[in-house]
Amino acid sequence: MGALAGRRIVLGVTGGIAAYKAVEVASRLKKAGAELRVIMTRGAQSFVAPLTFREVADAPVATTMWGEPQHHVAHIALAEFAELVLIAPATANLIAKAAAGIADDMLTTTVLATRAPLLLAPAMNTVMWESPVTQENIHRLTARGAQIIPPAEGFLACGAVGAGRLPEPAEIVRAAEAHFARTQSLTGRRILVTAAGTEEPLDPVRYLGNRSTGRMGYEVAAEAARRGAEVILVSGPTPLATPAGVQRVDVRSAREMYAAVLAAYDGVDAVIKAAAVADYRPAETAEHKIKKSDGELTLTLTRNPDILYELGQKKRHQILVGFAAETQNVADYARGKLTKKNLDFIVANNVAEENAGFGVATNHVQIFYADGRAEEHPLMAKAALAGIILDRLAGMLRK
Ligand code: CTP
Repeated sequence: MGALAGRRIVLGVTGGIAAYKAVEVASRLKKAGAELRVIMTRGAQSFVAPLTFREVADAPVATTMWGEPQHHVAHIALAEFAELVLIAPATANLIAKAAAGIADDMLTTTVLATRAPLLLAPAMNTVMWESPVTQENIHRLTARGAQIIPPAEGFLACGAVGAGRLPEPAEIVRAAEAHFARTQSLTGRRILVTAAGTEEPLDPVRYLGNRSTGRMGYEVAAEAARRGAEVILVSGPTPLATPAGVQRVDVRSAREMYAAVLAAYDGVDAVIKAAAVADYRPAETAEHKIKKSDGELTLTLTRNPDILYELGQKKRHQILVGFAAETQNVADYARGKLTKKNLDFIVANNVAEENAGFGVATNHVQIFYADGRAEEHPLMAKAALAGIILDRLAGMLRK
């Protein structure tokens, strides 16, 4: 049985010249066993008749919000039906509307109303594809977890040559297959993720902290749960909401994190340590608020346990993934930590760089592996990076 068998897919077709290729996409999805519904925009219907989809793929086709109601709110029914919303071709207009949350027809309303992941195959003229506003919209969508099948290069209908062609139907179907294969890739695995910074109390009102918001770790936890893992998220203080299906354990200080992580360690298959753990804490925590006085105040700090180092020492079957936040000599420092802490791989970023590191939705990283390999990744949404980290982890767990 293929990855698409029995999967509930809504195929959105928008009004580009490539709409005719969507017929073959629909037919292939159907042959692969998917349960298919098609939504066509008005533009799409100028290129291909709804009947074509109905006949070729034997799928119900929705063309308007205002037709004969098969369901009292048809767009909600489709939104809930979908395990995946695949839009091929996706025009610049559809991409802009989806990015902005506009819901003015059946397809855009379904996109807004669904919790299902979005897989988009953009197709348009090269200038429209490369235009900053389209790229910005794509970026906004991927930052929210949408996946993009990059347009191919070649001869376009308008006579130009460049990027913007709809990829071949077989490739689009492969991307949908890969999506569903990924959603099962961590089924049956238990994964421990740590996230956010720790707070080291100085007195009842003050603490030493750091600028980590927990975003990277939360994206990893959310994506691991979507891929079927049982996820324990040990989190420092953060306003972020607990991702669906994740068991969250709240801690404040490094020592509390240490205790929570070690308690769970034996039963997990992997640990991803995205938390920014304080290396030092105030040697004493004052029982009452420290009052100011003339002159200087000196704080004495004492070392916290290195949680990941301890895990590396106690490692048996577990895969260990660390993060390294650096402001210089990224590769050297990251490789040093990889070896010292006995990790399987380490995700390193330069937090001094714009759009990478603390509090932003994107990251720019290199990954170093225990066997000496290294990968450089382009600037991308933390959600997308979470996917890459989990792809690598799933590969190692399979071995
Ligand atoms: N880490 C940890 N316990 C600590 C400090 C760090 O588990 N007390 C983990 C982090 O969660 C991260 C990795 O170790 O996955 C590297 O953290 P980082 O702060 O970059 O490095 P340090 O080991 O603290 O080294 P340094 O402060 O010298 O850069």
